Amino acid sequence: MAKKILVATEKPFAAAAVEKMKEAVASHNGYELELLEKYEGQQAFVDAAKSADAIIIRSDKATREVLETSPAKVIVRAGAGFDNIDLAAATDLGIVAMNTPGQNSNAVAELAFGMMVFMARGKFNGKAGVELKEKKIGIHAYGNVGKNVARVAKGFGMEVLAFDPFVSTETIEADGVKVCGSVEELYSSCDYVSLHIPANDKTKDSINFDLLSKMPKGGTLVNTARKEVVCEAELEKLFEARPDFTYISDIAPTNAAELEAKFADNVLFTPKKMGAQTAEANINAGVAAVEQIVAFIENGDTTFQVNK
Ligand code: 3PG
Repeated sequence: MAKKILVATEKPFAAAAVEKMKEAVASHNGYELELLEKYEGQQAFVDAAKSADAIIIRSDKATREVLETSPAKVIVRAGAGFDNIDLAAATDLGIVAMNTPGQNSNAVAELAFGMMVFMARGKFNGKAGVELKEKKIGIHAYGNVGKNVARVAKGFGMEVLAFDPFVSTETIEADGVKVCGSVEELYSSCDYVSLHIPANDKTKDSINFDLLSKMPKGGTLVNTARKEVVCEAELEKLFEARPDFTYISDIAPTNAAELEAKFADNVLFTPKKMGAQTAEANINAGVAAVEQIVAFIENGDTTFQVNK
């Protein structure tokens, strides 16, 4: 019987990506794809997982219940962040959890600049705005998305700085990016800060009032990472103290409506996370997920395992 790869995507991949994933599956003997798209309620995912030999997800919640229910021994998050997988449960159950690093990073970087330009031009209100050229942008965490942000920023003629204690100075400097010695130095030096840290116990709420207050006049925080890393409770206080501050986020904070009502000119939020929502990113990440599953099942390849 063919091995079933369940694609559980509450926010579906582009149709072109699903086609490419089907082609990838068909190029290997003994596999089939099952789609569970736009499902409503976690129970639908739990039920579908019961007969899956492998699972592909996006931001879908791979809870302990899903993992316990499923006979699958591999789950791939088609994307970068894997905070939506219960990794402890996966490890307890002997399930290999993977991500597909780098596959959607250009899409995320492009969206960051789309939102930055829109805000720099006053949301197209007809009045004179400002340019990105010669402004300083600080990249907070220099992974795949951060690297792409640096590349595009240079195209805009921006000065690029970065802080990432996990990436060597040589690696960052090789891209023509200046390394900051501390997170405080990054925020106090830059007109824009682009966030690319993962959401975990250490980073949650770490981008707070004190840190953001260090940004120069007219500073803008761009968040295409995770909403949990920004201390939402302190955002209102920040806008009151700093009417010049701008917050752009692809992951609207819980108090988005309130902030939009009170500080309309200072905030920009997408209605639904859009960073990875391009046909190209969906094709890259979706096909990579299929290939990683087959490589794991056929050859035990755990290159992209995140719960080692
Ligand atoms: C990621 O971590 O790869 C991005 O946040 C994209 O998430 P999405 O696949 O849910 O759009």
